[in-house]
Amino acid sequence: MTSPTTAISSVPMLDLGRENGPLHAEIQAALAEVVASGNFILGPLCQQLEQAIAKRCGTTHAIGCGSGSDALLLALMAVGIGPGDEVILPSFTFFATASAVSRLGARPVFAEIEPGTFNLDPQSVVSKITRATRAILPVHLFGQCASMDSLRSLAVAHDLVVIEDAAQAIDARYHNQFAGSMGSISCFSFYPTKNLGGCGDGGMLTTSDDRLADRLELLRAHGMRPRYEHHLVGINSRLDAFQSAILLVKLRYLADWTETRRVHAQRYFDALNAAGIDDVIQLPAVDPRAEHVWNQFTIRVLHGQRDRMRVELREQAGVGTEVYYPIPLHLQPCFTSLGYRVGSLPLTERASQEVLSLPIHHGLTMAEQQHVIDAVVHHAQLARFRMRRSAKAA
Ligand SMILES: Cc1ncc(COP(=O)(O)O)c(C=O)c1O
Repeated sequence: MTSPTTAISSVPMLDLGRENGPLHAEIQAALAEVVASGNFILGPLCQQLEQAIAKRCGTTHAIGCGSGSDALLLALMAVGIGPGDEVILPSFTFFATASAVSRLGARPVFAEIEPGTFNLDPQSVVSKITRATRAILPVHLFGQCASMDSLRSLAVAHDLVVIEDAAQAIDARYHNQFAGSMGSISCFSFYPTKNLGGCGDGGMLTTSDDRLADRLELLRAHGMRPRYEHHLVGINSRLDAFQSAILLVKLRYLADWTETRRVHAQRYFDALNAAGIDDVIQLPAVDPRAEHVWNQFTIRVLHGQRDRMRVELREQAGVGTEVYYPIPLHLQPCFTSLGYRVGSLPLTERASQEVLSLPIHHGLTMAEQQHVIDAVVHHAQLARFRMRRSAKAA
């Protein structure tokens, strides 16, 4: 059995100080300019960011808003989702994907995931389509695009709208098309833990539909145009100039940061594949059509060993990990009235019990990553030993 050999004593799951520290001077200068300008809400910096994101995604429009959660709500409002409508989405995602649907009085219909990629399974989506279905809301989970070929074909065949939840997937590609350019509208989050994260909340919508772009611009600012004339009942969800300024600074580094995440991911694959622990640890599947941006590197710990291994990694090796997501959305207390129960989506429920995300942020050093690898291998071997011992005893 191997044991950890590095001199490292702890590795944080994420360390935003390492991201922001080296940019301190640039960020401070950018913020000082905002203060001097007196222009705090939307304004020229937000427009600059919108143009940069639209160009990056290959869409004709990008519309800044207050958060990724608001982006989802605004997207659904813009396409007219409301009471009586059904929207098909994964249960294995962050809460905001589904809450946006519910808040508009529509029904979230949860579909299964593909077990390897954790993304929405088109076959399961087909089985959920009814006369009330209006939209499909795929999530590009952990930084890898969902099966957009099949999902888009389904949408065309059934006359459904596709809204992409690309919150975790800026710069990800699918058949060379960028996340954010494959739905009628796409939603991004600039929550600090995202690959492009601000120092606070922020979000962005992208679309190449002029009419939807116009509606989104209206909806994010009380449907107002010109001042005090309201055409739609919108919300107040505007990206502020401080976040825009910070995001514009960080955008210059995003491509390098993503490349570093890819190098980290490859190192995990090489080392963990070579370690002979695949009876305990399963590595994530990479869809050959997708270019992953590794917002998370999420393994499965099999045989009910996940929670114990997570505690051991933290307490014995100082390794921070996360569980995204421990309770699937169809089993959340607030969605009880939708009628799902344990067993409704077995693949999703199993993923919730097995997933474990390892540190992969771009500030992770090689020595730290080696420490994580050694610790995972060591504790997987311990888990195997425990399992064999209890099998013998039984
Ligand atoms: C998949 C997904 N959708 C939506 C959101 C919501 O974004 P925000 O936190 O910016 O509201 C997040 C991030 O937190 C997310 O990961």
